[in-house]
Amino acid sequence: MGTTICRPTRRKTPTYSILSTHSRLNSSSSPRSQQANLPWKHYKADIESADVFAFLEPVTSSWQYIIVDPITRESAIIDPVLDYNPASGTLSTTAADILLGFIKEKDLNIVRILETHAHADHLSASQYIKQTLDAKIPICIGKRIKQLQGHFAPIYGLETTDFLESFDVFLEDEDQFQLGSSISCEVIHLPGHTPDHIGFMVGKAVFTGDSIFMPDLGSARADFPGGNAKDLFSSMSRLLSLPEDYQLFVGHDYPVGRQHECMATVGVHQEKNKHGKLGTTETQFVQFREARDKVLGTPRLLHPSLQVNIRAGKLPPASNGRVWLKTPAQLANPMIPL
Ligand SMILES: [Fe+2]
Repeated sequence: MGTTICRPTRRKTPTYSILSTHSRLNSSSSPRSQQANLPWKHYKADIESADVFAFLEPVTSSWQYIIVDPITRESAIIDPVLDYNPASGTLSTTAADILLGFIKEKDLNIVRILETHAHADHLSASQYIKQTLDAKIPICIGKRIKQLQGHFAPIYGLETTDFLESFDVFLEDEDQFQLGSSISCEVIHLPGHTPDHIGFMVGKAVFTGDSIFMPDLGSARADFPGGNAKDLFSSMSRLLSLPEDYQLFVGHDYPVGRQHECMATVGVHQEKNKHGKLGTTETQFVQFREARDKVLGTPRLLHPSLQVNIRAGKLPPASNGRVWLKTPAQLANPMIPL
């Protein structure tokens, strides 16, 4: 007998603190015409909340975020993207440089780089941003990344020592940290898509990575190593048990017939999430998700992404003066000579 997504009986107390009523970063007051062509969207749940800036990386449809304490300008980056063209073998920094330009323009002080999980569909720019801004900025990820590192290291020929000086902080459920003097952030473990997956609750803004998608898309796949649909259902249930006005920010969006969006409230998900709205049972979700995942193709950048992302965005150790990204080949016919 499975569980069911239902309305919460116990609500978590918001963890944000009271801020100044004045924010020089609050661009929501700018005329719409001035915001239309900006490469970011601005969100602020209420006057007490952090400023959230969302940047779309269009090639992989990834959302990158900068969250800002408007008083001190201490800020964190979530899930920055490194551009990779597999056809030409070119790594570039267009998406990350937009973030860096914004940080410079707004005079932000980046104090943390946050990864929601080891992404399998795009490469992380965490290491590039860290080395460009300040080598002391910690790159943070869920502690279960070590499970994925252990699984994938042999596949890509990486040694244990290759992971030294990659991630700096390993987070677990309910860990807390501050941004500036007044913004509290809480870690929530959201397994299912991947086992290491975490989210970040910053006041009413919750950064969910790939633990939930926009309501018309529903959910992400749960068939990567260590992932499973049952855990994903539990993680979605946890998110949907938050207060209705909490804002769930997603890690990707793949819109059909609408513009890219990055946020919907818990209340909207409760009513409309295609795979997990209120009343959905665990059995229904798991049956759907497992059947769907069986017919999904392998992500285009799976291997380049994983061998870079399990090292916090560091490229594999160079050999012969060149960087090599490996693609393991499976022999569908064992008679193919080695
Ligand atoms: Fe992902």
